[in-house]
Amino acid sequence: MHARPTLSLLAVSTLAACAPGPQTVDTAALAANLTPAPTSAPAAMPSEAKLRARGEYLTRIAGCNDCHTPGYAESGGQTPQHDWLTGSPLGWSGPWGTTYPANLRLKVQEMDEAAWLEYSAELHTRPPMPDFAVRAMDESDRRALYRFIHALGPAGQPAPAYLPPGQVPQRPYVQWVLPPAPAPQAPSAG
Ligand code: HEC
Repeated sequence: MHARPTLSLLAVSTLAACAPGPQTVDTAALAANLTPAPTSAPAAMPSEAKLRARGEYLTRIAGCNDCHTPGYAESGGQTPQHDWLTGSPLGWSGPWGTTYPANLRLKVQEMDEAAWLEYSAELHTRPPMPDFAVRAMDESDRRALYRFIHALGPAGQPAPAYLPPGQVPQRPYVQWVLPPAPAPQAPSAG
């Protein structure tokens, strides 16, 4: 009994094999269509345009603008691109001292792509920079960030210098303070 023809390759070839008389299925053509094109080179590097677009996308969704672009959050993410990642005078103050989101537009000009790839794979900063997020990116994403930021060109001034703990920063700054521990609970009656 013949299986009912289906779209599966196995069924088609089975049918062709047991069909009496002249071949009705051109198996050579079928095979030619199904054989993947010869792959001589490994997957090509995405185009420059694709890398930059990915870098822009990552900058938006990974939150880099939130801290490194002045006024970004306040504008609801409307800051024009030519002002992106120019660093921020808004300090982040906590037990680590006071840190300022660096001017990444200047930073990427200091190094070529290979240096950035090494640097970003091992990035260690003080809080609240999510350096772990950058380290967790795969190389193609870190390359895309580089291409995008580098293509924006240098702009702005270096961010203010880091202040060690105990040094009061100029306003404005964000102070990270834990609320006081809750008062011990009164023993319940009974
Ligand atoms: C919560 C705020 C915040 C976010 C979000 C953030 N950063 Fe940062 N970033 C900082 C601060 C603050 C510093 C300075 C840290 C220090 O002084 O040690 C910094 C430092 C850096 C540095 C080191 C620069 C230098 O000169 O030492 C790099 C590179 C960097 N950030 C890249 C990124 C990228 C890429 C993203 C998005 C994936 C990002 N940051 C998201 C706040 C942030």
